[in-house]
Amino acid sequence: MLRTLSHGGVTVAQRVHTHSALRPLAALPCRTAMSSVSVPPPPCLLQPLETPQRYLFGPGPSNVPPRVQAAAARQVIGHMHPETLEIMEDIKKGIQYAFQTQNPMTIAMSGPGHTAMECAIFNTVEPGESVLIAVNGIWGERAAEIAERICAKVNTIVKPPGGYFTNEEIEQALVEHKPVLFFLTHGESSSGVVHPLDGIGELCHSHNCLFLVDAVASLGGSPVLMDKQGIDILYTGSQKVLSSPPGTAPISFSNRACRKMFNRKTKPASYFLDMGWLASYWGCDGKPSRIYHHTGSITGFFTLRESLAILAEMGLEKSWSRHKEVAEYLHEGVESMGLKLFVQDKNVRLPTVTTIAVPPGYDWREMTAYVMKHHNVEISGGLGPSAGMVLRVGLMGYNSTKANADKVLAALKDALKHCHKSKKVTETRISCTF
Ligand SMILES: Cc1ncc(COP(=O)(O)O)c(C=O)c1O
Repeated sequence: MLRTLSHGGVTVAQRVHTHSALRPLAALPCRTAMSSVSVPPPPCLLQPLETPQRYLFGPGPSNVPPRVQAAAARQVIGHMHPETLEIMEDIKKGIQYAFQTQNPMTIAMSGPGHTAMECAIFNTVEPGESVLIAVNGIWGERAAEIAERICAKVNTIVKPPGGYFTNEEIEQALVEHKPVLFFLTHGESSSGVVHPLDGIGELCHSHNCLFLVDAVASLGGSPVLMDKQGIDILYTGSQKVLSSPPGTAPISFSNRACRKMFNRKTKPASYFLDMGWLASYWGCDGKPSRIYHHTGSITGFFTLRESLAILAEMGLEKSWSRHKEVAEYLHEGVESMGLKLFVQDKNVRLPTVTTIAVPPGYDWREMTAYVMKHHNVEISGGLGPSAGMVLRVGLMGYNSTKANADKVLAALKDALKHCHKSKKVTETRISCTF
Protein backbone atom coordinates (compact mmCIF):
# COMPACT_ATOMS: atom_id res chain seq x y z
CA MET A 1 0.00 0.00 0.00
CA LEU A 2 1.39 3.43 -0.86
CA ARG A 3 0.71 6.04 1.81
CA THR A 4 1.50 9.72 1.46
CA LEU A 5 2.76 11.45 4.59
CA SER A 6 3.13 15.17 4.95
CA HIS A 7 5.63 16.56 7.42
CA GLY A 8 6.20 20.31 7.49
CA GLY A 9 6.34 20.91 3.77
CA VAL A 10 8.00 17.61 2.87
CA THR A 11 5.64 15.00 1.57
CA VAL A 12 7.07 11.56 1.28
CA ALA A 13 5.43 8.46 -0.12
CA GLN A 14 6.02 5.51 2.11
CA ARG A 15 5.25 1.91 1.44
CA VAL A 16 3.72 0.33 4.52
CA HIS A 17 3.05 -3.24 5.52
CA THR A 18 -0.44 -4.60 5.46
CA HIS A 19 -1.16 -7.98 7.03
CA SER A 20 -2.16 -9.45 3.70
CA ALA A 21 1.15 -8.27 2.19
CA LEU A 22 3.13 -10.28 4.74
CA ARG A 23 2.91 -13.69 3.20
CA PRO A 24 4.46 -16.38 5.42
CA LEU A 25 7.27 -18.15 3.63
CA ALA A 26 5.54 -21.51 4.22
CA ALA A 27 2.64 -20.40 2.01
CA LEU A 28 4.90 -19.88 -1.01
CA PRO A 29 4.41 -22.29 -3.88
CA CYS A 30 6.70 -25.24 -3.18
CA ARG A 31 9.41 -26.06 -5.66
CA THR A 32 9.45 -29.60 -6.93
CA ALA A 33 12.45 -31.87 -7.02
CA MET A 34 12.34 -31.46 -10.82
CA SER A 35 13.05 -27.74 -10.65
CA SER A 36 15.83 -26.66 -12.98
CA VAL A 37 16.74 -23.61 -10.91
CA SER A 38 19.57 -24.04 -8.42
CA VAL A 39 19.53 -20.47 -7.09
CA PRO A 40 16.40 -19.99 -4.94
CA PRO A 41 14.38 -16.75 -4.93
CA PRO A 42 16.03 -14.40 -2.43
CA PRO A 43 13.85 -14.27 0.74
CA CYS A 44 14.35 -10.49 0.98
CA LEU A 45 12.47 -10.04 -2.30
CA LEU A 46 9.54 -11.98 -0.93
CA GLN A 47 8.96 -9.19 1.58
CA PRO A 48 7.32 -5.87 0.67
CA LEU A 49 9.45 -2.90 -0.35
CA GLU A 50 10.10 -0.54 2.52
CA THR A 51 11.54 2.96 2.31
CA PRO A 52 12.03 5.36 5.22
CA GLN A 53 10.68 8.85 5.44
CA ARG A 54 13.53 11.38 5.52
CA TYR A 55 14.32 15.03 5.09
CA LEU A 56 16.89 15.13 2.33
CA PHE A 57 18.80 18.28 3.25
CA GLY A 58 22.17 17.15 1.92
CA PRO A 59 23.67 18.08 -1.46
CA GLY A 60 21.14 15.89 -3.30
CA PRO A 61 18.89 14.18 -4.07
CA SER A 62 16.16 16.49 -2.76
CA ASN A 63 12.70 15.44 -1.59
CA VAL A 64 10.26 15.11 -4.46
CA PRO A 65 7.02 17.15 -4.44
CA PRO A 66 3.67 15.31 -4.62
CA ARG A 67 3.01 16.36 -8.23
CA VAL A 68 6.28 14.78 -9.31
CA GLN A 69 5.62 11.67 -7.21
CA ALA A 70 2.27 11.34 -8.95
CA ALA A 71 4.00 11.54 -12.34
CA ALA A 72 6.34 8.73 -11.26
CA ALA A 73 3.35 6.52 -10.44
CA ARG A 74 1.92 6.71 -14.00
CA GLN A 75 1.83 3.64 -16.20
CA VAL A 76 4.71 3.51 -18.68
CA ILE A 77 3.99 4.11 -22.37
CA GLY A 78 6.12 3.23 -25.38
CA HIS A 79 9.30 5.25 -25.78
CA MET A 80 8.46 6.11 -29.41
CA HIS A 81 4.71 6.65 -28.91
CA PRO A 82 3.50 10.07 -30.12
CA GLU A 83 2.54 11.01 -26.54
CA THR A 84 6.09 10.30 -25.33
CA LEU A 85 7.53 12.33 -28.19
CA GLU A 86 5.22 15.19 -27.22
CA ILE A 87 6.42 14.98 -23.61
CA MET A 88 10.01 15.06 -24.90
CA GLU A 89 9.13 18.23 -26.83
CA ASP A 90 7.72 19.76 -23.62
CA ILE A 91 10.94 18.82 -21.84
CA LYS A 92 13.08 20.47 -24.52
CA LYS A 93 11.08 23.69 -24.16
CA GLY A 94 11.28 23.49 -20.36
CA ILE A 95 15.07 23.06 -20.50
CA GLN A 96 15.40 25.97 -22.94
CA TYR A 97 13.52 28.11 -20.41
CA ALA A 98 15.49 26.85 -17.39
CA PHE A 99 18.80 27.34 -19.26
CA GLN A 100 17.68 30.60 -20.93
CA THR A 101 18.67 29.41 -24.37
CA GLN A 102 17.26 29.16 -27.88
CA ASN A 103 19.56 26.23 -28.76
CA PRO A 104 17.68 23.61 -30.81
CA MET A 105 20.27 21.02 -29.65
CA THR A 106 18.69 20.66 -26.21
CA ILE A 107 17.82 17.27 -24.71
CA ALA A 108 17.63 15.28 -21.47
CA MET A 109 20.07 12.41 -21.09
CA SER A 110 18.75 9.14 -19.67
CA GLY A 111 21.14 8.96 -16.74
CA PRO A 112 22.52 11.00 -13.84
CA GLY A 113 24.65 14.17 -14.01
CA HIS A 114 27.76 12.12 -14.84
CA THR A 115 26.08 11.01 -18.09
CA ALA A 116 25.84 14.64 -19.16
CA MET A 117 29.42 15.34 -18.03
CA GLU A 118 30.71 12.53 -20.19
CA CYS A 119 28.38 13.40 -23.07
CA ALA A 120 29.64 17.01 -23.09
CA ILE A 121 33.32 16.05 -23.10
CA PHE A 122 33.16 12.89 -25.23
CA ASN A 123 31.36 14.70 -28.07
CA THR A 124 33.31 17.95 -28.22
CA VAL A 125 36.87 16.73 -27.63
CA GLU A 126 38.95 14.38 -29.79
CA PRO A 127 41.98 12.39 -28.64
CA GLY A 128 45.08 14.57 -28.45
CA GLU A 129 43.18 17.86 -28.22
CA SER A 130 43.98 20.27 -25.42
CA VAL A 131 41.37 20.97 -22.73
CA LEU A 132 41.47 23.33 -19.76
CA ILE A 133 39.72 22.35 -16.54
CA ALA A 134 39.12 24.67 -13.58
CA VAL A 135 39.48 22.60 -10.42
CA ASN A 136 38.17 24.09 -7.18
CA GLY A 137 36.55 20.96 -5.82
CA ILE A 138 35.67 17.42 -6.82
CA TRP A 139 33.78 18.19 -10.04
CA GLY A 140 36.76 19.71 -11.81
CA GLU A 141 38.81 16.71 -10.70
CA ARG A 142 36.20 14.36 -12.17
CA ALA A 143 36.03 16.31 -15.45
CA ALA A 144 39.82 16.09 -15.74
CA GLU A 145 39.68 12.33 -15.26
CA ILE A 146 36.91 11.98 -17.85
CA ALA A 147 38.92 13.98 -20.40
CA GLU A 148 42.03 11.94 -19.60
CA ARG A 149 40.14 8.74 -20.39
CA ILE A 150 39.56 9.88 -23.98
CA CYS A 151 43.27 10.75 -24.30
CA ALA A 152 42.79 14.51 -24.33
CA LYS A 153 45.72 16.71 -23.27
CA VAL A 154 44.43 17.78 -19.88
CA ASN A 155 45.54 21.10 -18.39
CA THR A 156 44.21 22.33 -15.07
CA ILE A 157 44.06 25.51 -13.08
CA VAL A 158 43.59 24.71 -9.43
CA LYS A 159 42.31 26.48 -6.31
CA PRO A 160 41.75 24.97 -2.89
CA PRO A 161 38.13 24.23 -1.91
CA GLY A 162 36.27 27.50 -1.41
CA GLY A 163 38.33 29.29 -4.06
CA TYR A 164 37.37 30.60 -7.49
CA PHE A 165 39.15 31.99 -10.54
CA THR A 166 39.46 35.52 -11.86
CA ASN A 167 38.86 36.15 -15.55
CA GLU A 168 42.54 37.21 -15.81
CA GLU A 169 43.69 33.83 -14.49
CA ILE A 170 41.39 32.06 -16.93
CA GLU A 171 42.61 34.13 -19.88
CA GLN A 172 46.23 33.50 -18.98
CA ALA A 173 45.59 29.73 -18.99
CA LEU A 174 43.69 29.97 -22.30
CA VAL A 175 46.67 31.73 -23.88
CA GLU A 176 49.12 29.21 -22.43
CA HIS A 177 47.28 25.96 -23.23
CA LYS A 178 45.22 26.84 -26.33
CA PRO A 179 42.41 24.46 -25.33
CA VAL A 180 39.45 23.52 -27.52
CA LEU A 181 37.28 23.34 -24.39
CA PHE A 182 37.23 25.10 -21.00
CA PHE A 183 35.36 23.34 -18.17
CA LEU A 184 34.01 25.29 -15.19
CA THR A 185 31.75 24.21 -12.33
CA HIS A 186 29.13 26.87 -11.66
CA GLY A 187 27.87 25.46 -8.35
CA GLU A 188 30.75 23.57 -6.69
CA SER A 189 28.67 21.45 -4.35
CA SER A 190 31.72 20.02 -2.56
CA SER A 191 32.92 23.43 -1.38
CA GLY A 192 29.75 25.57 -1.55
CA VAL A 193 31.05 28.12 -4.07
CA VAL A 194 29.03 29.63 -6.90
CA HIS A 195 31.43 30.69 -9.63
CA PRO A 196 30.89 34.05 -11.38
CA LEU A 197 30.19 33.46 -15.11
CA ASP A 198 30.19 36.90 -16.69
CA GLY A 199 32.79 37.58 -19.35
CA ILE A 200 34.19 34.03 -19.50
CA GLY A 201 32.21 33.01 -22.60
CA GLU A 202 33.60 35.95 -24.60
CA LEU A 203 37.11 35.17 -23.38
CA CYS A 204 36.81 31.56 -24.48
CA HIS A 205 35.41 32.50 -27.88
CA SER A 206 38.15 35.04 -28.50
CA HIS A 207 40.61 32.16 -27.97
CA ASN A 208 38.66 29.79 -30.20
CA CYS A 209 37.60 27.64 -27.26
CA LEU A 210 34.22 26.23 -26.21
CA PHE A 211 32.87 27.17 -22.78
CA LEU A 212 31.43 24.18 -20.85
CA VAL A 213 29.56 24.79 -17.58
CA ASP A 214 28.50 22.19 -15.01
CA ALA A 215 25.40 23.53 -13.28
CA VAL A 216 24.22 20.28 -11.69
CA ALA A 217 24.09 21.78 -8.20
CA SER A 218 23.01 25.31 -9.10
CA LEU A 219 20.65 25.42 -12.05
CA GLY A 220 17.29 26.91 -11.08
CA GLY A 221 18.68 28.11 -7.73
CA SER A 222 21.19 30.67 -8.98
CA PRO A 223 21.18 32.68 -12.23
CA VAL A 224 22.64 31.03 -15.34
CA LEU A 225 21.87 32.65 -18.70
CA MET A 226 23.24 30.27 -21.30
CA ASP A 227 22.91 32.44 -24.42
CA LYS A 228 23.72 35.80 -22.82
CA GLN A 229 26.73 34.41 -20.98
CA GLY A 230 28.12 32.71 -24.08
CA ILE A 231 27.98 29.21 -22.61
CA ASP A 232 28.46 26.58 -25.32
CA ILE A 233 27.57 23.47 -23.36
CA LEU A 234 25.48 23.49 -20.19
CA TYR A 235 24.11 20.59 -18.20
CA THR A 236 22.36 19.89 -14.93
CA GLY A 237 20.82 16.97 -13.04
CA SER A 238 17.20 16.21 -12.20
CA GLN A 239 17.64 15.54 -8.49
CA LYS A 240 18.71 18.88 -7.06
CA VAL A 241 16.78 22.14 -7.63
CA LEU A 242 14.43 20.42 -10.08
CA SER A 243 13.46 18.01 -7.25
CA SER A 244 12.84 15.06 -9.55
CA PRO A 245 14.12 11.58 -8.85
CA PRO A 246 17.75 11.12 -9.98
CA GLY A 247 18.19 9.66 -13.46
CA THR A 248 17.74 12.37 -16.09
CA ALA A 249 20.20 15.10 -17.01
CA PRO A 250 19.24 18.13 -19.14
CA ILE A 251 21.97 19.28 -21.53
CA SER A 252 22.20 21.87 -24.29
CA PHE A 253 24.77 22.67 -27.02
CA SER A 254 25.26 26.01 -28.80
CA ASN A 255 25.60 26.18 -32.59
CA ARG A 256 29.32 26.72 -32.08
CA ALA A 257 29.51 23.49 -30.03
CA CYS A 258 27.45 21.66 -32.70
CA ARG A 259 29.86 22.77 -35.44
CA LYS A 260 32.75 21.33 -33.45
CA MET A 261 31.09 18.06 -32.51
CA PHE A 262 29.51 17.30 -35.88
CA ASN A 263 32.74 17.94 -37.80
CA ARG A 264 34.92 15.52 -35.87
CA LYS A 265 37.51 13.32 -37.56
CA THR A 266 36.91 10.45 -35.14
CA LYS A 267 33.71 8.93 -33.72
CA PRO A 268 32.94 9.75 -30.06
CA ALA A 269 34.24 6.99 -27.78
CA SER A 270 30.76 6.15 -26.50
CA TYR A 271 27.90 4.91 -28.66
CA PHE A 272 25.34 5.61 -25.92
CA LEU A 273 26.53 9.21 -25.51
CA ASP A 274 26.94 10.00 -29.23
CA MET A 275 25.10 13.28 -29.86
CA GLY A 276 24.66 12.35 -33.54
CA TRP A 277 22.32 9.56 -32.43
CA LEU A 278 20.82 11.46 -29.51
CA ALA A 279 20.00 14.46 -31.73
CA SER A 280 17.94 12.20 -33.95
CA TYR A 281 16.25 10.43 -31.02
CA TRP A 282 15.28 13.82 -29.55
CA GLY A 283 14.20 15.32 -32.91
CA CYS A 284 16.93 18.00 -32.84
CA ASP A 285 18.38 17.18 -36.26
CA GLY A 286 15.65 18.90 -38.28
CA LYS A 287 14.46 15.59 -39.78
CA PRO A 288 10.77 14.62 -39.58
CA SER A 289 11.27 11.11 -38.23
CA ARG A 290 13.09 9.93 -35.17
CA ILE A 291 15.41 6.97 -35.06
CA TYR A 292 15.57 4.55 -32.15
CA HIS A 293 18.85 4.88 -30.27
CA HIS A 294 18.09 3.62 -26.77
CA THR A 295 14.96 3.12 -24.67
CA GLY A 296 14.57 6.45 -22.92
CA SER A 297 13.84 6.79 -19.24
CA ILE A 298 10.10 7.21 -19.79
CA THR A 299 9.12 7.54 -16.13
CA GLY A 300 12.07 9.90 -15.75
CA PHE A 301 10.66 11.97 -18.62
CA PHE A 302 7.25 12.17 -16.89
CA THR A 303 8.83 13.41 -13.66
CA LEU A 304 11.26 15.78 -15.36
CA ARG A 305 8.41 17.28 -17.39
CA GLU A 306 6.50 17.99 -14.18
CA SER A 307 9.55 19.45 -12.42
CA LEU A 308 10.20 21.76 -15.36
CA ALA A 309 6.51 22.72 -15.34
CA ILE A 310 6.72 23.63 -11.64
CA LEU A 311 9.78 25.80 -12.35
CA ALA A 312 8.04 27.47 -15.31
CA GLU A 313 4.96 28.19 -13.18
CA MET A 314 7.02 29.67 -10.38
CA GLY A 315 9.34 31.58 -12.72
CA LEU A 316 13.13 31.44 -12.71
CA GLU A 317 13.60 34.82 -11.04
CA LYS A 318 11.33 33.86 -8.16
CA SER A 319 13.14 30.57 -7.76
CA TRP A 320 16.55 32.32 -7.69
CA SER A 321 15.38 34.87 -5.12
CA ARG A 322 13.74 32.20 -2.94
CA HIS A 323 16.95 30.17 -2.82
CA LYS A 324 18.96 33.29 -1.97
CA GLU A 325 16.57 34.31 0.78
CA VAL A 326 16.42 30.84 2.35
CA ALA A 327 20.20 30.40 2.12
CA GLU A 328 20.82 33.78 3.80
CA TYR A 329 18.34 32.87 6.53
CA LEU A 330 20.20 29.59 7.07
CA HIS A 331 23.59 31.37 7.06
CA GLU A 332 22.43 33.82 9.74
CA GLY A 333 21.15 30.97 11.90
CA VAL A 334 24.38 29.00 11.49
CA GLU A 335 26.53 31.97 12.46
CA SER A 336 24.32 32.91 15.38
CA MET A 337 24.92 29.50 16.97
CA GLY A 338 28.68 30.09 16.77
CA LEU A 339 29.40 27.96 13.71
CA LYS A 340 31.51 29.27 10.82
CA LEU A 341 30.52 29.30 7.20
CA PHE A 342 33.26 27.77 5.06
CA VAL A 343 33.07 30.30 2.21
CA GLN A 344 33.91 33.68 3.65
CA ASP A 345 33.14 35.83 0.62
CA LYS A 346 29.34 36.30 0.81
CA ASN A 347 29.16 37.03 -2.92
CA VAL A 348 30.26 33.55 -3.91
CA ARG A 349 28.27 31.46 -1.44
CA LEU A 350 26.25 28.91 -3.35
CA PRO A 351 22.57 29.46 -2.47
CA THR A 352 21.67 25.81 -2.98
CA VAL A 353 24.38 24.04 -0.96
CA THR A 354 25.81 25.66 2.17
CA THR A 355 29.15 24.54 3.55
CA ILE A 356 29.79 24.89 7.27
CA ALA A 357 33.31 24.47 8.68
CA VAL A 358 33.37 21.36 10.89
CA PRO A 359 33.37 22.86 14.39
CA PRO A 360 36.71 22.37 16.20
CA GLY A 361 36.77 19.25 18.36
CA TYR A 362 33.75 17.62 16.69
CA ASP A 363 33.67 14.63 14.42
CA TRP A 364 31.59 15.40 11.30
CA ARG A 365 30.61 11.72 10.98
CA GLU A 366 29.14 11.69 14.47
CA MET A 367 27.25 14.92 13.77
CA THR A 368 25.72 13.77 10.50
CA ALA A 369 24.79 10.39 12.04
CA TYR A 370 23.26 12.16 15.05
CA VAL A 371 20.98 14.44 13.04
CA MET A 372 19.90 11.51 10.92
CA LYS A 373 19.11 9.35 13.95
CA HIS A 374 17.40 11.97 16.08
CA HIS A 375 15.91 14.38 13.53
CA ASN A 376 15.52 12.25 10.40
CA VAL A 377 17.55 14.92 8.64
CA GLU A 378 20.19 14.14 6.06
CA ILE A 379 23.12 16.53 5.91
CA SER A 380 26.47 15.39 4.67
CA GLY A 381 30.20 15.79 5.13
CA GLY A 382 32.67 17.12 2.57
CA LEU A 383 33.58 15.37 -0.67
CA GLY A 384 36.93 14.99 -2.44
CA PRO A 385 39.21 17.88 -1.47
CA SER A 386 36.70 19.19 1.12
CA ALA A 387 36.37 15.83 2.94
CA GLY A 388 36.76 16.31 6.69
CA MET A 389 36.59 20.08 6.38
CA VAL A 390 32.89 20.82 6.01
CA LEU A 391 29.31 19.86 6.72
CA ARG A 392 27.07 20.35 3.68
CA VAL A 393 23.45 21.43 3.84
CA GLY A 394 21.38 21.49 0.65
CA LEU A 395 18.01 23.25 0.59
CA MET A 396 17.06 22.97 -3.05
CA GLY A 397 13.88 23.29 -5.09
CA TYR A 398 10.96 21.85 -3.13
CA ASN A 399 13.11 21.79 0.03
CA SER A 400 14.10 25.45 -0.21
CA THR A 401 11.93 26.89 2.59
CA LYS A 402 12.65 28.76 5.83
CA ALA A 403 10.72 26.06 7.72
CA ASN A 404 13.22 23.49 6.46
CA ALA A 405 16.13 25.80 7.34
CA ASP A 406 14.70 25.89 10.88
CA LYS A 407 14.70 22.09 10.97
CA VAL A 408 18.37 22.03 9.97
CA LEU A 409 19.26 24.67 12.57
CA ALA A 410 17.42 22.81 15.34
CA ALA A 411 19.13 19.55 14.37
CA LEU A 412 22.59 21.18 14.32
CA LYS A 413 22.01 22.87 17.67
CA ASP A 414 21.04 19.55 19.19
CA ALA A 415 24.06 17.82 17.62
CA LEU A 416 26.42 20.44 19.09
CA LYS A 417 24.93 19.76 22.51
CA HIS A 418 24.99 15.97 22.34
CA CYS A 419 27.87 14.94 20.11
CA HIS A 420 31.20 14.21 21.72
CA LYS A 421 33.56 17.21 21.79
CA SER A 422 37.20 16.31 21.97
CA LYS A 423 39.43 18.43 24.22
CA LYS A 424 42.25 18.05 21.74
CA VAL A 425 41.09 20.55 19.18
CA THR A 426 42.43 20.07 15.70
CA GLU A 427 42.32 23.33 13.85
CA THR A 428 39.66 23.49 11.15
CA ARG A 429 40.82 25.09 7.96
CA ILE A 430 38.64 27.89 6.71
CA SER A 431 38.83 28.87 3.08
CA CYS A 432 40.50 32.10 2.07
CA THR A 433 38.79 34.72 -0.01
CA PHE A 434 40.30 34.59 -3.48
C1 LIG B 1 28.32 20.06 -9.45
C2 LIG B 1 28.02 18.62 -9.70
N1 LIG B 1 28.36 18.07 -10.88
C3 LIG B 1 28.09 16.79 -11.17
C4 LIG B 1 27.45 15.98 -10.24
C5 LIG B 1 27.19 14.54 -10.60
O1 LIG B 1 25.82 14.28 -10.66
P1 LIG B 1 25.25 12.78 -10.50
O2 LIG B 1 25.55 12.34 -9.12
O3 LIG B 1 23.79 12.94 -10.81
O4 LIG B 1 25.95 11.93 -11.52
C6 LIG B 1 27.08 16.50 -9.01
C7 LIG B 1 26.43 15.66 -8.00
O5 LIG B 1 26.35 15.98 -6.84
C8 LIG B 1 27.36 17.87 -8.72
O6 LIG B 1 27.03 18.43 -7.56
